[in-house]
Amino acid sequence: MTKSTERFQFFDQHPQIADFREDIMQGLSAPQPYISPKYFYDETGSRLFEDICSTDEYYPTRTEVNIIRDNIDDVVENLGRECLLIEPGSGDSYKVRLLLDALRPIAYLPIDISRRYLQDEARKLAEEFTWLNVHAVCADFTGKLKLPYHVESTNKVAFFPGSTIGNFLPEQAVAVLEEIKNMVGENGGLLIGVDLQKSTQILNAAYNDKQGYTAQFNLNLLSRINRELGADFNLANFRHHAFFNEERSRIEMHLLSLQDQQVTIDGQVFNFKKDQSIHTEYSHKYTIEHFQSLAEKAGFSRVKTWVDNEGLFSVHYLTC
Ligand code: AVI
Repeated sequence: MTKSTERFQFFDQHPQIADFREDIMQGLSAPQPYISPKYFYDETGSRLFEDICSTDEYYPTRTEVNIIRDNIDDVVENLGRECLLIEPGSGDSYKVRLLLDALRPIAYLPIDISRRYLQDEARKLAEEFTWLNVHAVCADFTGKLKLPYHVESTNKVAFFPGSTIGNFLPEQAVAVLEEIKNMVGENGGLLIGVDLQKSTQILNAAYNDKQGYTAQFNLNLLSRINRELGADFNLANFRHHAFFNEERSRIEMHLLSLQDQQVTIDGQVFNFKKDQSIHTEYSHKYTIEHFQSLAEKAGFSRVKTWVDNEGLFSVHYLTC
């Protein structure tokens, strides 16, 4: 279904509920049970992620925003004005607001899996920026995605902030970068935020905020499965567990089973032993060099890298 007003268009390619059921059944049947982090972002999860970003401990959001703000002229000069700006996994579209006035893109294409959230955010943006064409696409950007139309634009630029690339295993990250490269086409560009390696203490704190938003965000996966698939997870019997794995240079998030228990989803019974975990997310932390080598494998060349004074986070502009 496509809804459109003059400047605001909505293209719905939302995956089917059957895909969600199948992914969950498959993930929870694996020897190390897992749930894909893309399922964090239902409406509740998207709001909780906003809460996480506002905590003192979660440095990536404010650091990235400051990097872009402090270097906005340089960023815009590199991207070039009047581009078609594509944002895979656009979320709350807070960061793109930093770019819009300075960049004046011919159109903005946010792509997100959370339908209501995307619709609300994209519409707000079209109202706020009265000159902007907003063409929202509800889709899973990690799947094979077809942009809904071909815009005659010599300059297509993808904006992929927040270190979402870190949520993929390094080899998957190369495949995601290749997908983005296909989206922007020949001579296209990519402005991407990448979180950097740092002390274990800072990292553990960022994924275990005192207000408990990250724990709620993680546990919301089980509420979502209960709600959408009629499962009977008892949330009190699971605990959020996040830690930095130094050897792999990544945060790992899990849901730990606090007792031996059974959960039924769609008539199928799953057994969890006490202390067994359901893996829910990786968040890789890179060096600049390691990230650049992944980008090169995907066919991108580095144009410019910006880093904050403390070396916490990096923003890269790459071209094909
Ligand atoms: C979206 N992504 C980059 C966040 C991260 O830091 O990996 C998701 C998140 N998980 C827990 N806190 C934030």
